[in-house]
Amino acid sequence: MERERKEFMVDQRELIHILHEVQNHYGYIPPQAISQISRKLRISESEIFGVLTFYKAFTLHPRGEHLITICMGTACHVRGAPMILDEFKRKLGVEPGETTGDNQFTLETVNCVGACALGPIAIGDGEYHGQMKTRDVDKIIEDLKPKKGKSAKNE
Ligand code: FES
Repeated sequence: MERERKEFMVDQRELIHILHEVQNHYGYIPPQAISQISRKLRISESEIFGVLTFYKAFTLHPRGEHLITICMGTACHVRGAPMILDEFKRKLGVEPGETTGDNQFTLETVNCVGACALGPIAIGDGEYHGQMKTRDVDKIIEDLKPKKGKSAKNE
């Protein structure tokens, strides 16, 4: 029993490591990767899906160029996170889990990022923005947008 538990934990650590590598490479976990990992680690695809759905860091859908994450944990929620999320939804025209039509932004929610005292928190491409107000939403989006003229080297 103990040996089986240790094997399962090793398998899961290896699985998570591989899933991180795949996601870093593709930006998401493509379906064909799940089949390949299943064969390599000799675990069922449903077990892999179980891990993928448990850890919110993984996504089965391609993400946009920029990822905006809104913390909806209890502390952030009581400090106004729903209004912040609504403002991002309104400005970007997407629901959580969706990507804008131009593939620029993906909006996601998470339940607590461990910085509750700073809530409500929005994270733009890994940068934390604490004590968010709805008026801060525009600036975060603008700061993440590609700057015009930067990629015009060859023009
Ligand atoms: S609830 Fe948002 S950081 Fe903890």
